Amino acid sequence: MAAARRPAAPARPPAPAAVLCGVGGWVPPREVTNAELSRRLDTSDEWIRSRTGIRERRMINPGEATSDLAVEAGRLALKSSGEADADAVVLATTTPDRPCPGTAPEVAHRLGLTGAAAFDVSAVCTGFLYALAAGQGLIAAGTARRVLVIAADAFTTIIDPADRGTAVIFADGAGAVVLRAGGPDEPGALGRVVLGSDGERAELIQVPAGGSRQRSTGRPAPARDHYFQMRGRETFRQAVGHMSAASRAAVADAGWRLADVDRVVAHQANARILAAVADELELAEDRLLSNIAHVGNTGGASIPLLLAQAQEGLPSVSGGRLAAGDRLLLTAFGAGLAWGATALLWPDLPG
Ligand code: UT7
Repeated sequence: MAAARRPAAPARPPAPAAVLCGVGGWVPPREVTNAELSRRLDTSDEWIRSRTGIRERRMINPGEATSDLAVEAGRLALKSSGEADADAVVLATTTPDRPCPGTAPEVAHRLGLTGAAAFDVSAVCTGFLYALAAGQGLIAAGTARRVLVIAADAFTTIIDPADRGTAVIFADGAGAVVLRAGGPDEPGALGRVVLGSDGERAELIQVPAGGSRQRSTGRPAPARDHYFQMRGRETFRQAVGHMSAASRAAVADAGWRLADVDRVVAHQANARILAAVADELELAEDRLLSNIAHVGNTGGASIPLLLAQAQEGLPSVSGGRLAAGDRLLLTAFGAGLAWGATALLWPDLPG
């Protein structure tokens, strides 16, 4: 008996690539200088500058929240893309407006995108790269044609104001990009986003209370447990190793050599970490773009915020302005532990 013939699988067109076509960044107007912090903490402008590279940072006002930052950055990214529409919003944040629901649906609504798919991504300082990969996946699967990827953090809302080890570093800000379906050879097309994690070291950087393990019971949690805590020195060592390794993998994946990279846009954790990564990769420090001196460590927001400020050519960005055709390496590391990197050719964006 002849075997029953199986129906042929329907021919599918190749999955579209995700092409970056818009960028925007936002920081709240309130500036907090090292001098201001030194008046209430046992620290100094000299210590903060020499150990972190930070001179000032931005902070939201009481009553403001992460969504306020995300909406501003999202609006600017959509404007830069030339279209006000998106059919998905992915928001990376460590400081959602509330534990439940996610903040992305409200952000989408406030941007006039009610009805769009919208969800949060929780990967702390690597959140933007995880959200970028999620947005890329939505486009490749055909779930969305245009995705607004936002990273926004209001770290000052979870920092222990009495902890000089974190209060001088972490700050508030947001950045966003728009991805559209396109071809793999277009400038702005994303290649593989290299991602990794190591949960065995989760306790290096954490907020211990407020989740399902150390629940909010109505009774006060032990004094510092609702605050963000970090073991700085060990985190520093891990950051350099993982960002360097992920960067090598992303550059190899793009078919480049490290020497081909024009600009490194790394998570702005600490100026000394950036210098150590450049050293490890044998990249001249002038290829590093940096805005940490003026915005501090804005967590997940730091990469898209830096992209937006470098695209705009702000004088507060060291390393210069982004130009169409620049070969960019993006890399991040943070709590989780989680890390990532990707490489792309910077597209021709207006402004
Ligand atoms: O965003 C992603 C994840 N985060 C990071 O990647 C950040 C990684 N870590 C760092 O950036 C650095 O470890 C810090 C900036 C947090 C600290 O710098 P460090 O050079 O590693 O200093 P340390 O923690 O080894 O501390 C050195 C000394 C200590 O005093 P003793 O024990 O030597 O007397 C600290 O108590 O500096 C002291 N210290 C300070 N002194 C003045 C720590 N913070 C301060 C401060 N002002 N703000």
